[in-house]
Amino acid sequence: MTVIRTELGDITSKHYADAIVNAANESLLGGGGVDGAIHRAAGPDLLTECRKLNGCKTGQAKITKAYRLPCDYVIHTVGPVWHGGIHGEAELLAGCYKHSLELATEHGIRSIAFPSISTGVYSYPVQQAAEIAVQTVRKVIEEYPDAFDEILWVLFDERTKLVYDGGLQKN
Ligand code: APR
Repeated sequence: MTVIRTELGDITSKHYADAIVNAANESLLGGGGVDGAIHRAAGPDLLTECRKLNGCKTGQAKITKAYRLPCDYVIHTVGPVWHGGIHGEAELLAGCYKHSLELATEHGIRSIAFPSISTGVYSYPVQQAAEIAVQTVRKVIEEYPDAFDEILWVLFDERTKLVYDGGLQKN
């Protein structure tokens, strides 16, 4: 039985899971938001490893070590920029969750913490992003019923957390 839940907090601040997911950009060379926070907390070795990955396509995911972060791995995924919802954004966002979780199963990762991918700088509406996130996570758990002990979202503000809690109740 996989526990799926939300928590309010800074995803770099304490041990939430074996792996945390970074909402990165296609360069994988860092940025602001949670990407900036993760690189700051991990230290410079994370960027050194990321440089060897040759970027990451939107909707895909790549894995690195976590260095000074309180977890074992960072899974970097690139969410879609919101352009009104008619440019395949939903499928790309679902791909972020699907590919991150599949990558985790390949590394024997049994607990994983996500931020709210794409709903910051990339302006994805939180309500729609949360529904896609929850629906995709539930679908992957059906496919891999014994792979995960816990999948959670660590949300940076109360409003976003409320929306994800609503998404969990509804889907
Ligand atoms: N812990 C958890 N969540 C965080 C943290 C943190 N330390 N910092 C920010 N967040 C939240 C934001 O409040 C938002 O809800 O993560 C969510 C995603 O916001 P962004 O970090 O802006 O990510 P995104 O919208 O996917 O945009 C990605 O922003 O930082 C750049 O390099 C990144 O170009 C990429 C783009």
